[in-house]
Amino acid sequence: MSFRERLNVYIYEKSVKLIYIDPPYNTGNAFEHYDDGIEHSIWLSMMKKRLELLQKLLSEDGFIFVQIDNYEMPYLKVLMDEVFGRSNFINDIIWKRKGGSVNPTNKLNNMTDYILWYAKSSAAEIYPVYTMDDEETQKYINKRFNKIDENGRRYRLSPIISPTYSKSLVYEYKGYKSPPNGWSLSLEKMKKFEEEGRLYFPENKNQRIQRKQFLDEYKGRPIGNLWTDINVINPMSTERLNFVGQKPEMLIARVLELGSKEGDLILDSFLGTGTTMDVAHKMKRKWIGIEMGNQCYDFCQKRINNTIDGEKTGVAEKYGWQGGGGYKFYELAEPLLVKNKVLPVYQINPSYTWDMVCEAICKIEGFTYEPYGEFQGHSSENRFIHITEEFVNTKYVMSIMKNLGDKQSLLIYCKKNQADMILPENVEVKKIPKDLLDKCNFESEVQE
Ligand SMILES: C[S@@+](CC[C@H](N)C(=O)[O-])C[C@H]1O[C@@H](n2cnc3c(N)ncnc32)[C@H](O)[C@@H]1O
Repeated sequence: MSFRERLNVYIYEKSVKLIYIDPPYNTGNAFEHYDDGIEHSIWLSMMKKRLELLQKLLSEDGFIFVQIDNYEMPYLKVLMDEVFGRSNFINDIIWKRKGGSVNPTNKLNNMTDYILWYAKSSAAEIYPVYTMDDEETQKYINKRFNKIDENGRRYRLSPIISPTYSKSLVYEYKGYKSPPNGWSLSLEKMKKFEEEGRLYFPENKNQRIQRKQFLDEYKGRPIGNLWTDINVINPMSTERLNFVGQKPEMLIARVLELGSKEGDLILDSFLGTGTTMDVAHKMKRKWIGIEMGNQCYDFCQKRINNTIDGEKTGVAEKYGWQGGGGYKFYELAEPLLVKNKVLPVYQINPSYTWDMVCEAICKIEGFTYEPYGEFQGHSSENRFIHITEEFVNTKYVMSIMKNLGDKQSLLIYCKKNQADMILPENVEVKKIPKDLLDKCNFESEVQE
């Protein structure tokens, strides 16, 4: 099977709620675990094919986030406009990933990464995210939450004045006159707030009652597209796995918070150490991770096993992670069909055994591979598949049909067959590889 087919076996079109990918930035380096320096146009066409495929997998209310640095960002933006549509562009998020330690002499220090964010369509809904930790919010907190109540709780005062006139909101409360448009709290709510110690009554009754907003109940300020409050993984962090390009769990958690809820399906096809998978698991999302390198075994598998066993690294505490869950691990086979080295035709991959061919055909045709008697699989109780290397003629078909019951139907895949066969209504004959080619879109095949 092609990469596309193999992916489609496990991931249905329009089933993924959120895709986050962090492809090699094409920095020109060969890192220990993956190559990060390919010719610009090759990098672009590698990305184009993958983005086109990912676009199809996204649900109508889905999002894609692609992380990149300044080198390829403008080209990736144009490419993503083409694949996802300019009108579906949401934000370029700028992550301040490091301080000023490198200090090159011939240019300014590059301190930022980008995350390009697109929706599949206008049906996508963004969930609000707040921060307490960025510099601006911290300054705001220090300046505004400057009072402490009798229980030691820090708070700020905010007015309770209705912006528009409403008769029911105009009332005197404990000798304090109503603002001209009324209070922003109904009388009932005013009483409740007083009981809960949420009101400030000035000594001078000509002044207005105000509301106490407590710091321990403050969510923070809605985040913007400049993210300065998430640090890179520091050398002492328990999250650190010694892999160039590993992203902090907090960064991925924020992405997942913006565009997904518990139970949604998350996909990362440049998995690296498995950060997306690990965070999605801790945040109770379903996930699919794809990785072409050995890091699948060296990092991803170990990491998710530890998380399932209850290890508490990264965002575990934030999401109350206690362990649990599970996953399936698949190794992708080579493509089923490959180009003949001499002739301009496709043929079965010579590295495939006959059993592998049968299993692959079952998957492509939507049958469950379960060899039994004359059949290699079934798609329902009444539909079966028979795959053979024999020459198929009417007599052959009749001999296989003997195993079929009433109302049952059969698909036969063969390499050679009699040309003018008259078949019963419940039998279909297809040829290998001709009828498999239809299922493979070679023009947009993803090169591996
Ligand atoms: C920057 S890393 C991802 C790091 C990941 N976000 C993390 O936090 O660990 C990029 C990964 O993409 C994988 N990859 C997938 N397709 C690739 C391709 N065509 N060329 C190079 N690397 C590819 C690499 O093996 C590498 O592990």
